[in-house]
Amino acid sequence: MRILITGGTGQLGRDLQRALSPHEVVALARADLDVTDGGSVDGAFAAHRPDAVVHCAALTDTARCEREPGVAQLINAQGAAHVARAAWDARATLIAISTNEVFDGTKGAPYAEDDAPSAVNAYGASKLDGERHVLAAHAEARIVRTSWLYGAGGTNFVDKVLQAARGGRALRFVTDEIATPTSTVDVAHAIGALIERDAPPGVYHLANEGEASRYAWAREILRLGGLDATIEAITTEELRAGGYDGALKPAYSVLANTRARAVGITLRPWREALAAYFARAKVAADG
Ligand SMILES: NC(=O)c1ccc[n+]([C@@H]2O[C@H](COP(=O)([O-])OP(=O)(O)OC[C@H]3O[C@@H](n4cnc5c(N)ncnc54)[C@H](OP(=O)(O)O)[C@@H]3O)[C@@H](O)[C@H]2O)c1
Repeated sequence: MRILITGGTGQLGRDLQRALSPHEVVALARADLDVTDGGSVDGAFAAHRPDAVVHCAALTDTARCEREPGVAQLINAQGAAHVARAAWDARATLIAISTNEVFDGTKGAPYAEDDAPSAVNAYGASKLDGERHVLAAHAEARIVRTSWLYGAGGTNFVDKVLQAARGGRALRFVTDEIATPTSTVDVAHAIGALIERDAPPGVYHLANEGEASRYAWAREILRLGGLDATIEAITTEELRAGGYDGALKPAYSVLANTRARAVGITLRPWREALAAYFARAKVAADG
């Protein structure tokens, strides 16, 4: 099977290349497939003639999405529409990646795939519009929502916490934003399984199991990193009073992997996946 990955240079895109390597994989950077440009998307589909597409390309900087909601819409909503239309015209299987941030975080229990989404920030709104465009353009699309991704070589929370601790910077993290840290390696393999099992169309949640606050996640990162730094637990209100003016976040946006489990796809607990990430980094550093 020939599988095309949009956003192939991103953290999930890179791990998908490895996870899908039994197939012929074409991972395209923005320069080769710009999702905001329908002509660029059509050109890439004509050149590579994929059997399946994993659409990862997105503007993931939530603060920038807040400042420039039009750009977020262009990339995350219109871009998804271009890819879905091209995939449908090419009769290609489509997996489009979305986010826990399509939910408002007020349910107080893990979100199932059929819970009603309602975004609280511009990033979530643009991704939710993207989901709707995908489902309208491609009758057999699979939408994969995941959360709090980290992968090797990405700009992610794990590496930011480690850098801040090593740089002696003050560490303050909130206890009232809760979701599930998720390894891009694990999601990439689960996406491979969805494709190979030809799982029924519709929405799937794929996150590592369990839940954590940002504070609990940061503590586990420091523990696994062997760093003895002081870390302060704060609330979102205190964070904002301290000058943080980034995007509003859903308070509790844990995803229940209900439909994936029903087709025999499971992900391990987040602490186990995070320990594996540290083990891989150590192997890479030791050469
Ligand atoms: N990161 C998370 O915590 C998280 C959580 C839940 C869901 N997701 C979703 O998971 C997917 C993958 O996320 P990620 O963390 O791997 O993202 P990432 O590392 O930020 O990578 C995003 C990729 O999209 C590319 N891109 C941006 N604008 C583009 C455009 N106009 N045309 C084509 N490519 C473009 C980027 O290329 P450049 O580097 O050239 O800009 C980059 O390769 C996204 O759909 C995201 O919304 C992410």
